[in-house]
Amino acid sequence: ARTAAVIPAAGRGVRLGPGAPKALRTLGGTPMLIHAVRAMADSRAVSLVVVVAPPEGAAEVRTLLDAHALPERTEFVVVPGGETRQESVKLGLDALPPGYDIVLVHDAARPLVPVDTVDAVVEAVRDGAPAVVPALPLADTVKQVEPAIAPGEPEPVVATPDRSLLRAVQTPQGFDRDTLVRAHETVTGDVTDDASMIERLGAAVVTVPGHEEAFKVTRPLDLVLAEAVLARRRL
Ligand code: C5P
Repeated sequence: ARTAAVIPAAGRGVRLGPGAPKALRTLGGTPMLIHAVRAMADSRAVSLVVVVAPPEGAAEVRTLLDAHALPERTEFVVVPGGETRQESVKLGLDALPPGYDIVLVHDAARPLVPVDTVDAVVEAVRDGAPAVVPALPLADTVKQVEPAIAPGEPEPVVATPDRSLLRAVQTPQGFDRDTLVRAHETVTGDVTDDASMIERLGAAVVTVPGHEEAFKVTRPLDLVLAEAVLARRRL
């Protein structure tokens, strides 16, 4: 079974502060998106990478991909993205040719995921899981709250879920292609990851160990951490 990776990279990156779309901001002088593309293409299993670009930025992303040295055995396709992450992933799936039975979905915002994590996800899908997510235990205790009665008012805490049973999940998430396509055709409503759509179908989702370097670059401090991780790798 051949494996393709879809990289949603159409987000604005508002939480990172003003500037270019998040995926095009640089880490160690190279756009975050290029790091993410390399992270997928470095896996021997991945032979096609579909980048879902900002709607007005597809030509720019194509130029970027052509300007960077990427593994030659991998094919790269660029499609324009949508309003939501979910829509962007769907547009990426629509661009997949036949023959790719395993699909990874990887956030451009996780540029530093190690190849071993990518391979572990692919392996678990090959072993028969319809959906696989890299997951890590939580360092923080998590509280469930009720919305505040007004902005700025304190939020009442209503529960403390057992931390030992909670996981923070990352990408790439790996899927049996047909199951993921079916999920995108049938599941509606807001989701924040792809695996939750599979859960709503009633299909099994399993975890493999995630990696701390697969963290998502969301806020300004994450850029500081990402630069430090890159610098350490280059030592
Ligand atoms: O917003 P969030 O950090 O959850 O975005 C995760 C990933 O989804 C990012 O790589 C972002 O570029 C992508 N995205 C997208 N299309 C959107 C919104 C987000 O491809 N409309």
